Amino acid sequence: MTLETLREVLGRAEEGAYAVGAFNVSSLDQAVAVLDAAETERSPVIVQAIAGMSAYSDESRWWHRLRALCEEYAQVAVALHLDHGRTYDDCARAIDHGFTSVMIDASRAADSDAPAAFLDNVELTGRVTTLARPAGVSVEGELGTIGGAEAGVTGILEEIVFADPDQAVEFVDATGVDALAIAVGTSHGSVKFTDEAGGQRLRLALIAEIRERLPDTFLVLHGSSSVPADAVTAINLHGGQVRPSYGISPGQKSEGIAAGIRKINQGTDSHLAWSAALRTFLDENAAVVEPSEQLAPAIAAFRGMVAQRMREFGSAGRF
Ligand code: 13P
Repeated sequence: MTLETLREVLGRAEEGAYAVGAFNVSSLDQAVAVLDAAETERSPVIVQAIAGMSAYSDESRWWHRLRALCEEYAQVAVALHLDHGRTYDDCARAIDHGFTSVMIDASRAADSDAPAAFLDNVELTGRVTTLARPAGVSVEGELGTIGGAEAGVTGILEEIVFADPDQAVEFVDATGVDALAIAVGTSHGSVKFTDEAGGQRLRLALIAEIRERLPDTFLVLHGSSSVPADAVTAINLHGGQVRPSYGISPGQKSEGIAAGIRKINQGTDSHLAWSAALRTFLDENAAVVEPSEQLAPAIAAFRGMVAQRMREFGSAGRF
């Protein structure tokens, strides 16, 4: 099947009132895990990669292979998306490599982690939209700052700047983006909230208000991993040192979908599942050096976590 754009995949999610998971992959093994889960669950899927974040040294070959792999899953509706493009050039390269959707994250200044000036965000996002539109590629922008570590952002932001509904309308009018990542209380990475109340921090009323003002723009939830305690425990039991913390509960995400979220980004939960399975296997099978044996449980755990989210987001069984 020809890959679909984000607008096509999320258009059907809007009609069906569900969300589509956008799963971060940094190797072909992980992409196979995501696509196998989509095929088994009969779920549309967004496979997403971040520029500069992969297991390979040659980005061009990696992106070409990723695109070819996605095309092999003929039964599955797949959008191939650039996550957190930080520059115009990141987005241009992704479009050249056949990505059907790009995110330009101009919500932070290019040279620091500080929130960008609104007009600078508008200017860069608008330029990417102008580039993407004739190529038939969807664009996601970001408004407000989502906390935590993300592409090119190494620090944990103390302050999350929430999206402002008036600015959201102005931003979409000025840039023409198809999808908008809104800062509504989530945070990227494996260390999210240090108290349980963190899992309740999704600003549902803010999501509902922005959705009402922007009915034709797909709203995106970043930093939405739940940080399952059993995965963190398994990692730490087998030599890891992941700080326990709280994420966004599956129930909160369902409420977010009911309020209008249509794309849910997940990296950390899949990575935790992968790391827990790999560490456990290596610890319990210290003599095994065959990579296929080592990787099989990691791929299976990654696939299982993605499949579980597809069911929770309501995208399973849609084809
Ligand atoms: P998590 O770190 O919560 O999985 O979020 C990933 C993300 O939003 C990527 O854009």
